Amino acid sequence: MGFILASMGSAVGLGNVWRFPYITGQYGGAAFILLYIGCALAVGIPLLLAEFLIGRKTQRNPVGAFKTLRPRSPWVFTGWLGVISSFVILSYYAVVGGWVLHYVYLSLIDSFTGKSPEQITALFVSMNANPWLQIFWLLMLMLLTVVIVSRGVSRGIEIGNKIMMPLLFALLLVLLFYALQTDGAAAGLEFLLRPQWQELGRSAVLEALGQALFSLSLGMGAMITYGSYLSRQTNLVRCAFFVAAGDTLVAILAGFVVFPLVFSFGLEPSAGPGLIFRTLPIAFAQLPAGYWVALAFFVLLSFAALTSSLSLLEVACAYFVDEQRWSRTQATWTLGIVIFLLGIPSAVGAEFLGFMDGLATNYLLPTGALLIAVFTGWVLMPAERREEFSAGEGSVFRFACWSFLIRFISPVAVILIFLHQLHWF
Ligand code: PHE
Repeated sequence: MGFILASMGSAVGLGNVWRFPYITGQYGGAAFILLYIGCALAVGIPLLLAEFLIGRKTQRNPVGAFKTLRPRSPWVFTGWLGVISSFVILSYYAVVGGWVLHYVYLSLIDSFTGKSPEQITALFVSMNANPWLQIFWLLMLMLLTVVIVSRGVSRGIEIGNKIMMPLLFALLLVLLFYALQTDGAAAGLEFLLRPQWQELGRSAVLEALGQALFSLSLGMGAMITYGSYLSRQTNLVRCAFFVAAGDTLVAILAGFVVFPLVFSFGLEPSAGPGLIFRTLPIAFAQLPAGYWVALAFFVLLSFAALTSSLSLLEVACAYFVDEQRWSRTQATWTLGIVIFLLGIPSAVGAEFLGFMDGLATNYLLPTGALLIAVFTGWVLMPAERREEFSAGEGSVFRFACWSFLIRFISPVAVILIFLHQLHWF
């Protein structure tokens, strides 16, 4: 249970509530969601199992895991790629996490009640135009992350997740209930449910794949790291299903809250990274007890962001502690400072944030995912795979299904998506 919650904590985060709705908005809605679900099923779940399996088998960080399984082979590069990805992602993730902290502050001083949609949009615009403010909140988020990771991930996080995750979910349901009663609900639902295939651009498939990987924390070893804390009694299949289902549910729920509001208040679905910061406070401004709902929502969202940023820092930290023999304190503070500095350009310029995000989700994570799938499906011996898979899971049929997916479907899907992006077909 603790493990499921911790990996759920890593998976559920800004990717679900911030990124999923705005990307879906930019790619025209329902058709993109279907692509996303396809990627989560064909690549996401098999890969989640593969990462858990590699982590549990080796009980090591991503670099150490590949070193253990295939000593002195180039596969260790896959682990390295994961460590690099964790730097890139955390540097801008923490900036957006900082925005959420700023919105906690705005909720606290009652900035939304009675405000018009234009005034609420202006709050986001003025925050975005103020680099110092963003750097300040980036620093706060990194400090929180470093302090928690330096104390070890286990206990606090587990308890926190147990309380906060269900609360976040419940609050999204409350918001859904409100959103569905606004005037634009029908238009919002139509946008989410009626696929407009012709509006999808060429990059939509790659974007859907990137989003699925990002949202499930895959392709960079975060789930290898978490899997390394597992015992052989755990049923990996059940864990993977819980995590994937919970994560997808939260993302879709966030979409169903955001788009009715977008259409009700005449906003652009393709408004970009500011989407939830412009839409949700409008609902808070009008809800009875909106002050408390806003405060609770942003506190819970910052918690969700934090449990994900922890897992990002943990990947790099586990590597430096295990392989380079740094102390945990030394590793977390050094890495924290480096990542904070790396995050400053993203706080100063939205273009840079977009660049880092594109680099991670369109290139680093799919490449990592491809390498991990090929490694698990083709480099590990069938006996090695089966032995680890079967610990805690008796079904031969499930093993056969997963083997097929991870050997043929997942890698081929990633390769096809890359080729499609390169205009090969
Ligand atoms: N899955 C997290 C989210 O959706 C982000 C993340 C990506 C965390 C990669 C760890 C690794 O917010």
